[in-house]
Amino acid sequence: MKKFAVFGNPISHSLSPAIHHMFAELTGEDIHYDKIEAPVDGFEQAVNAFFADELAVGCNVTVPFKEKAFVLSEANCNPEAKTAKAVNTLHREGNALFGYTTDGMGLVADLLNATELKGKRILLIGAGGAARGVVQPLLGSEPELLMITNRTLAKAESIVTDIKHDAFCAVSIEEAKKQLPDVIINCTSASLTGDLPMVSDGLFSQCKLAYDMVYSAKATSFMNYAKEQGARSTKDGFGMLVEQAAAAFTIWTGKTPETAGVIQKLRP
Ligand code: ATR
Repeated sequence: MKKFAVFGNPISHSLSPAIHHMFAELTGEDIHYDKIEAPVDGFEQAVNAFFADELAVGCNVTVPFKEKAFVLSEANCNPEAKTAKAVNTLHREGNALFGYTTDGMGLVADLLNATELKGKRILLIGAGGAARGVVQPLLGSEPELLMITNRTLAKAESIVTDIKHDAFCAVSIEEAKKQLPDVIINCTSASLTGDLPMVSDGLFSQCKLAYDMVYSAKATSFMNYAKEQGARSTKDGFGMLVEQAAAAFTIWTGKTPETAGVIQKLRP
C-alpha cells in the first residue's frame, strides 16, 4: 500500500482522490489517497506529519500552499516549478522531497488530445502564476511561435525576460491578432468571475482551438466568444485537471494511466 494526499484550504471540493483511485485501479496499484485541510499557517507541520508515515510516497498541493511547497522542495524541483515559484506535486525519494509543477505537462497533454502544437502559433492570454507554470512545457511542444499577452503587458514581458527562448515573445493583443494564432489559451482568472479577458474581434479568425484553463459545467464566456468569432473548436480545463494528476501519478509510481475514460467519467 502506498499513501498519498492532497493538501489545501479549503479542500472538500477536490476531485483528486477520485481521479487517483481510478488511476490506481487502471494500473493495478494499491493506494490510499486522502484530502487534508491544513491550517493556513500550518502547512509545513501537516506535510511533515504526513511523511512521518513510511507508507507515504507523495502528495498534491493546492491553494493556498503551492508557494510553501516550493520553499520545502526548492533544492530539488523541476524548471517550471522554479519559474513559477510554486509546486503542486511533492515526491519523497529516500530522505529528500522533490517538487514539481505538473500543470504545464497537463495542459500540453490535454491540448494534444485535441490539436497539434508542433509548428503552430500559440497565444497565451494572462501572465499570473498560472501562465508562468505552463510556458516551458508549451515551448517543449515545439511551436513555431509562443506569444504571451496580458492586461498588464509589463507582467508578460517579465516572464519573457525570465524564460528566454527564440520562439517566445510578449505582444499586445493587436500584434497577436496579426500573427493569426492557431491555438489561443486563456490562463487569466477572468472566467472565474464570468468575465472575458482582453480579446479583440478578428483574433480567432484562424484559431483551431480556443482553450480555457478554467472548467465548469457550462461553457465559459471566453469559449462562447471564441466560438462566435469563428474558432473551430473550444475546450475547457477539465482535461487539464485529469492530465496534471496523471503526470503526478507517473512521477510517483512510474506508471502512465489512461486518461480518456477518467475524463469522461468524472466531467461535471
Ligand atoms: P493565477 O495564479 O490564477 O494566474 P494571478 O497570479 O492573480 O492568478 O493572475 C491573474 C491573471 O488574470 C493576470 O494575468 C490578470 O491580469 P493582470 O496581470 O493585468 O492583473 C488576469 N486577469 C484577471 N482578471 C482579469 C480580467 N477581468 N480581464 C483581463 N485579465 C484579467
